[in-house]
Amino acid sequence: MWVGYDADIVGDAEDVGDSRVRELEGKVAVVTGAASGIGFGMATRFAEAGLNVVMADVEKSALDRAVASLKNREHNVVGITTDVSHWESVAELASESRSRYGSVHILCNNAGVTSSGLASKIWEHPQSDWDWVFGVNFWGVLHGLRAFVPLMLEMDEECHIVNTASVAGLVAYGSIYGATKTGVVDVSETLIMQLRAIDSNIGVSVLCPGAVNTQLLNSSRNRPPEYPSNPSSEDAPADLQRVRDATSDLLRNGRDPLEVGDIVVEAIKQNRFYVLTDDVWNHLIESRPRDILSGNPPAHDKEIAKILGLNSDAND
Ligand SMILES: NC(=O)c1ccc[n+]([C@@H]2O[C@H](COP(=O)([O-])OP(=O)(O)OC[C@H]3O[C@@H](n4cnc5c(N)ncnc54)[C@H](O)[C@@H]3O)[C@@H](O)[C@H]2O)c1
Repeated sequence: MWVGYDADIVGDAEDVGDSRVRELEGKVAVVTGAASGIGFGMATRFAEAGLNVVMADVEKSALDRAVASLKNREHNVVGITTDVSHWESVAELASESRSRYGSVHILCNNAGVTSSGLASKIWEHPQSDWDWVFGVNFWGVLHGLRAFVPLMLEMDEECHIVNTASVAGLVAYGSIYGATKTGVVDVSETLIMQLRAIDSNIGVSVLCPGAVNTQLLNSSRNRPPEYPSNPSSEDAPADLQRVRDATSDLLRNGRDPLEVGDIVVEAIKQNRFYVLTDDVWNHLIESRPRDILSGNPPAHDKEIAKILGLNSDAND
């Protein structure tokens, strides 16, 4: 359940200065992974707020439908087919956005995928799982920063970058997916400190959603053939399937992506850095620094099993 930024459990962020995009109308936003889920939720809310939105996604047919649905509502949006895991494709996205609008004020590095889920063992994943998920979730964000930050610095206007990580980047569990999201949190933390050190006008948020009702668990629809999945992972043992089903239920009952779009709009206006979407995971986020300082190994797997409604260990 979302409790709002002003509630005790979440806390108020300090005002981190002037680098905030206060007025959205007429500005330009680029959103990756905009054809579905959270990306579409952000693109919709940006368009409704009067922004020009560049919607980027690798799934062309879904992107065409998503762009058409917003254009039908008279919104100013354009679709650019982009594979964020390839530098050339993201560089092309930046160059096309610039030649169309002259500037980019908001960048959402949001495209993301997951492979076989929480319960599969780190040492059993084929290399292709690591390469594909890191390529989209981690390198996709890096490519976005390398392509757009120089452009924003040159513009010298108020800008904001939203990197989509996950609560999996804040808690001590999550297999390949969690590793990519921990990387996105870390890169975002370094980014905001480096941008403040040079007095830039660029704000940064790292979006760490809990469960959101999207197509994330159907990520394999966009898995390129050069990253084949392990055939045995298609034929999951019963315990693995049980965790997958529970994760699927959790997401289905999760937040509406449009609500996440609302949360992101507020976070940009408030120049909020860490952006959570619910408080279900707070006790795990809080326990991590305690474990680190006391030297105890994490036990988040058992807590996550409880959140998933499983009686036994998620790592069974
Ligand atoms: N749904 C959740 O519960 C949840 C929770 C935490 C974080 N997230 C993160 O939110 C982000 C959005 O995912 P979602 O849940 O909306 O899933 P989704 O599958 O509905 O949307 C993801 C979009 O990314 C696109 N995409 C995939 N690979 C791409 C690539 N190589 N280049 C460009 N686009 C690509 C897909 O086509 C899709 O439109 C991801 O980074 C995900 O990890 C989701």
